[in-house]
Amino acid sequence: MRGLKDKIVLVTGGTRGIGKGIAKRFLEEGSIVTIVGGKNKQDAENAMAELSPLGQVDCMMVDLSDAAATEKMIDDVVAKHGRIDILVNNAGIQIRRWATEFPLEDFDKVLSVNLRAYYVASRTAARYMQKQGKGSIVCISSGNSQMYTSQRSAYNISKTAVNGLVATLGVEWARFNIRINAVAPGYVMTEMIQKGIDEGIIDIDNIMKVIPMKRLLSPEEIGNTVVFLASDEASGITGQCIFTDGGWSKAGLPENKDL
Ligand SMILES: NC(=O)c1ccc[n+]([C@@H]2O[C@H](COP(=O)([O-])OP(=O)(O)OC[C@H]3O[C@@H](n4cnc5c(N)ncnc54)[C@H](O)[C@@H]3O)[C@@H](O)[C@H]2O)c1
Repeated sequence: MRGLKDKIVLVTGGTRGIGKGIAKRFLEEGSIVTIVGGKNKQDAENAMAELSPLGQVDCMMVDLSDAAATEKMIDDVVAKHGRIDILVNNAGIQIRRWATEFPLEDFDKVLSVNLRAYYVASRTAARYMQKQGKGSIVCISSGNSQMYTSQRSAYNISKTAVNGLVATLGVEWARFNIRINAVAPGYVMTEMIQKGIDEGIIDIDNIMKVIPMKRLLSPEEIGNTVVFLASDEASGITGQCIFTDGGWSKAGLPENKDL
């Protein structure tokens, strides 16, 4: 894909799940990648062992609920590599409770990682990209930004806001040659989904009734849309959210698995 080789790329939440799949795709395209993890050092070590043979990759541990640490994360990448070409805001958390019982501190926690960190990282990167004369940002939204499910109010609200974030910053930053778009994944088997299955809140057989492809997607399939949007192949696209969801967002009524 054009415009990715030797580019400096930062992927938050790149230590596992969808973020690791995204980082893998950038490395396959010849980009120089920094992955960012939260607290789990084992995830970081595993990801580095898997990704290092694919190309030039670094790892940083940052708490993205901390705005100052999030700004420093971008500054550190620029201090090391001299620039930042592509930012992927992917790290996200989900806390499942009825809205009537949702602790406000958990609401703030979800919004701080899933939305505020995207805003802080994007605008910090944009200051550098503006000076560079070019940049591309991709934010990971969710099918839940449009198809709403119960007990995920903070998550659903944060993801709906991500679509608004890319639209508004896409308009504001187009004049600086900075593009910002979102990818809304459907269901991808990661620890976030496994936790939901373990808690009895996610029933995969039931979900497949509303996914026309009748399968889960892989992290790399989400990565494919991300590298496209980040690349020069998508030079005319900004402010958009591309649903990569096996058709979920276009499905009408539930269908049996074998239909
Ligand atoms: N898995 C799915 O089916 C699915 C569907 C739609 C959207 N998404 C979105 O995709 C993104 C990745 O999800 P996933 O399923 O890979 O999740 P995951 O739980 O497997 O991984 C989340 C990543 O985010 C990082 N992270 C979490 N909190 C952090 C913090 N405070 N500071 C720094 N890093 C932190 C973790 O270290 C981890 O690397 C999320 O934004 C999620 O909302 C996932």
